[in-house]
Amino acid sequence: MPRTLFVTYALPYANGPLHLGHMTGFVQTDMWVRFQRLRGNTVHFVGADDAHGSGIMLKAEAQGITPEALIEQVSVDHQADCKDFLIDFDIYHSTHSPENAELSGQIYQALDAKGLIARRDVEQAFDAEKGMFLPDRFVKGTCPSCKTPDQYGDSCEACGTTYRPTDLIDPVSVVSGSAPVQKNSEHLFFALPQLADYLQGYIGSEAIQASVKPKLAEWFADGLRDWDISRDAPYFGFEIPGAPGKYFYVWVDAPVGYMASLKALAAQDDAVDFDAIWRPDSDAEVHHFIGKDIIYFHALFWPAMLHAAGFRAPTGVHAHGMLNINGAKMSKSRGTFIMARTWLDHLPAEPLRYYFASRLGGSIEDMELNLADFAQVINADLVGKYVNIASRSAGFITKRFDGALGERVDTELLDTVSGAANEIAEAYEQRNTAKAVRLTMAAADAVNAYIAEQQPWVIAKQDGSDDDLQRVCTTALTAFRDLTVYLKPILPATAAKAEAFLNGGPLSWADIGKPLAGRTIAKFKPLMSRIEPDTVHAMLDAGKADTTPKQAATKETPVDDNTIQIDDFSKIDLRVARIADAQHVEGADKLLQLTLDVGDLGSKNVFAGIKSAYAPEDLVGKHVVMVANLAPRKMRFGLSEGMVLAAGPGGSDLFVVSPDDGAKPGMKVK
Ligand code: 2FM
Ligand code: ZN
Repeated sequence: MPRTLFVTYALPYANGPLHLGHMTGFVQTDMWVRFQRLRGNTVHFVGADDAHGSGIMLKAEAQGITPEALIEQVSVDHQADCKDFLIDFDIYHSTHSPENAELSGQIYQALDAKGLIARRDVEQAFDAEKGMFLPDRFVKGTCPSCKTPDQYGDSCEACGTTYRPTDLIDPVSVVSGSAPVQKNSEHLFFALPQLADYLQGYIGSEAIQASVKPKLAEWFADGLRDWDISRDAPYFGFEIPGAPGKYFYVWVDAPVGYMASLKALAAQDDAVDFDAIWRPDSDAEVHHFIGKDIIYFHALFWPAMLHAAGFRAPTGVHAHGMLNINGAKMSKSRGTFIMARTWLDHLPAEPLRYYFASRLGGSIEDMELNLADFAQVINADLVGKYVNIASRSAGFITKRFDGALGERVDTELLDTVSGAANEIAEAYEQRNTAKAVRLTMAAADAVNAYIAEQQPWVIAKQDGSDDDLQRVCTTALTAFRDLTVYLKPILPATAAKAEAFLNGGPLSWADIGKPLAGRTIAKFKPLMSRIEPDTVHAMLDAGKADTTPKQAATKETPVDDNTIQIDDFSKIDLRVARIADAQHVEGADKLLQLTLDVGDLGSKNVFAGIKSAYAPEDLVGKHVVMVANLAPRKMRFGLSEGMVLAAGPGGSDLFVVSPDDGAKPGMKVK
């Protein structure tokens, strides 16, 4: 019985370009979708941009455009990237859509009617200059635990402590630079704990991957809490029905955006039955593919919201691990923060799809893209094993038999190749494309061994050997057809070329194992070129030079976007300074007041949080490194005109950074 599946991948924020981390997930989802379609199932695959939130509002403002104009631009780029990575969406929509406004409102009202919406005051950081409440990531200050300056309001990147923005020492709003004040406002909450029994069953069900269950159980054991679902104006999003000035938090209308996109698709395509998919007793399946960083939202909040609002829950929430490149997190400084477009400017999409496929096992383990090894894998597997089978056999069939394939084949080999079909299908079904690739390559090895053993090029020179030659080449090409089906979810463009060559129309899973007798093949054209390591290097160099504006540092940015471009670094004016004087500060238990001699830049007054590690008298005369162009900050004790660099977790483990002997006050540190 063919299945009906509604499939999504996490909606990317509309605040910047897609990078290879996004593509890992898009490609994984697309391969699964294509596999299901190849099996004869009906799949509705939707994409959309996640277009709301403070980050997008402020980014648009910084660019002097409206949020609507920003998300429009980004959508065009995202769609082009996805198209060129061969992601086969039925529609690419946006969470900023009329369908989503309506559905989000409807779901909210259903929750409210069931008494699942609570209201209570929340005290939050407020930027009085800008007139807006500040998300945690929009407040920065010194870590209360290790005293590292310039940390976000939710957690410290130096020591990993998590805290509230109110805990920061000397907090400032990143929007206006002013010190935030604490202000109360009423927020709306979704009473998640009331759904605890339901969720307990859900997270124990098959909808959740085995590798994710322990983490969910841990969250569950920690206790579910009400979820704050409102944000105050100004905010770019949907106003909450019956709550003027309150907007849905972006994470409310983002998953509803999956449904809304399906609704928009249904309006274009009569074959899509929205209600049949979403009613509680639906036979259709709903599958969400996501990165492992957003499991909480998809495995707890989202099913709870759906269930409480009278919809069915997802059949599967499938998380993948993060992408590492060359052994580490993607990083701009190492030149491995690669944008999808940078890749496409230099290299085709399919080899990367294949590489991802060969590494994705269906669990949440992180995935490694080793660029040194990349060309070798592609050249060995795809060019050396798969394409080679056709290129070694096609010429004989064309030249000696006018393209006609024969009746006779070696069934033993063909049974081996087609016999792998079920196991490969099961691997795809489980999203274990690494296994599907392994099995496919093992089958390709068997075919290449067969060709090497039969030596058609030797047979071709023997008199009266036509039958044998046609048998061997027909066998090889029949096997090649099966391998093409196995690889088609991963390499759709190559498969299309192979289909043209095999001259039998689009292939489906049901074609595996069928004889090709009587078929006339087309002239063979190269299906794929080798990857030259130089091209990979050129792509990396272009990535390093890429000055694509960084995404706003908001909660909504990808967690791995924490590196900077050289331009960003050169904005910081680092100077050698001599500590001319150091004093205790009355009423401050962490600060010392330093008078710094910065050569040509004169003398600067700096309050440094290093009292826990240094006595003032030990500092005088020392050479240090300071940030000389930091905006002066008014503190309770006076004006601080810069920052002195220090290393270490804090307390007595704090070490001021000094230049080598000979450096003079005022010298630039580069
Ligand atoms: O983490 C993210 O990139 C979010 N924009 C994902 C949203 S997924 C869904 F909820 F829309
Ligand atoms: Zn810290």
